[in-house]
Amino acid sequence: MDKIRIGIIGTGGIAHNHMRSYLQMEDVEIIGASDIIPGKARAFLDEFDLKDVPAFENNDELLALKPDGVSVCTYNTTHDVCAIAAMKAGANVLCEKPMSVTLDQAVAMAKTQKETGKILTIGFQPRYGENMKMIKSLVRSGELGHIYYIQTGGGRRRGIPGRTFVQKDLAGVGCLADIGCYGLDMALNAVGYRKPVTVSAYASDYFGKNPKYYDPIKGGGEFSVDDFTCALIRFEDGLVMDFRMSWAMHMDTMGDTLFLGTEGGLKVKSPHPEVNWGGAWDGGVGDVYMYRDIDGNQVEVKIPKKNEDDKRGFFFLKCRDFVDAIKTNGPSPIPWQEILYNQAIIDGIIRSSAAKHEVDVVIPEI
Ligand SMILES: NC(=O)c1ccc[n+]([C@@H]2O[C@H](COP(=O)([O-])OP(=O)(O)OC[C@H]3O[C@@H](n4cnc5c(N)ncnc54)[C@H](O)[C@@H]3O)[C@@H](O)[C@H]2O)c1
Repeated sequence: MDKIRIGIIGTGGIAHNHMRSYLQMEDVEIIGASDIIPGKARAFLDEFDLKDVPAFENNDELLALKPDGVSVCTYNTTHDVCAIAAMKAGANVLCEKPMSVTLDQAVAMAKTQKETGKILTIGFQPRYGENMKMIKSLVRSGELGHIYYIQTGGGRRRGIPGRTFVQKDLAGVGCLADIGCYGLDMALNAVGYRKPVTVSAYASDYFGKNPKYYDPIKGGGEFSVDDFTCALIRFEDGLVMDFRMSWAMHMDTMGDTLFLGTEGGLKVKSPHPEVNWGGAWDGGVGDVYMYRDIDGNQVEVKIPKKNEDDKRGFFFLKCRDFVDAIKTNGPSPIPWQEILYNQAIIDGIIRSSAAKHEVDVVIPEI
């Protein structure tokens, strides 16, 4: 069988994980890479000893080679334009998380997917972890009864990343979309993505703006996104979510993920809150506990974890799943039909924290 022809758009940090994964696949051929920064795609390909593979500074030239699939590994603010151009050119798309910055961008991506029929999958690799699958299975088992409340998010004590993550024109949004999208996906993928209807949120930037805690040189300029956010989100079916997220704070954790149901509760502890960069469910989970009554007795059970989490292995699995979906002509492994709701919440949090009051979340029909 012919090899699946893959291109990479945006050749910064995370593109390396994509490339390392594809290079392990005998049924994949890397046909090119592109980046708007002159020379960057060439240097990236050379790093992997792919000296004969063409590099471009214009994505259209890469797309003209008619790749079967592309990984979109660009800044959050350019996911939409790159993914839309790729699907319109006939390529299937694995887009890095978050899906986009605004709901409008995500809607445009979803509409293009529908029009073109191409695969659009959003790269939430923590879903490939065995422990993440276990959480979903426990929640879906029905043992918790009716789930009426979720607390989630995650938080680092000192974990503000570098330049392209902290500038609004590139990242669009800060900790909320960088690691907040993972807490949302863990919880909402477990309960089955529900439609959000209102958001009341707060965001601040006290740490990113203070040289005592964040070096402006590392930021490469003015810190212009959020480093802390919290929100109350209501869903169409009455479910309520309490969401908290931080890149920096004077606290070890913003709390565990909690699922409260009428018959039981599930607690997923923050992974490694003792480490400055721990605390987000971006590739691992802490200990998992279930609470319920048995014959009138209150019981608390620690659920044995499956294995150690291997974040790099998850990248291989997400790229592999994408390639397999191309080979079988779908379905999308992580479809926009789910992640559009994740993005609608992020969009609602951005709008509500700016407006300083609750906002409605209106998701158009696609
Ligand atoms: N899944 C994960 O665990 C994970 C981890 C880190 C980053 N990410 C996501 O990956 C994306 C990229 O992050 P990064 O750390 O690699 O950032 P980065 O800044 O290192 O790389 C982004 C690259 O995209 C290029 N680019 C931007 N717009 C472009 C365009 N229109 N066309 C072509 N190239 C363009 C930039 O020049 C840059 O080289 C972000 O959305 C981020 O949220 C995901």
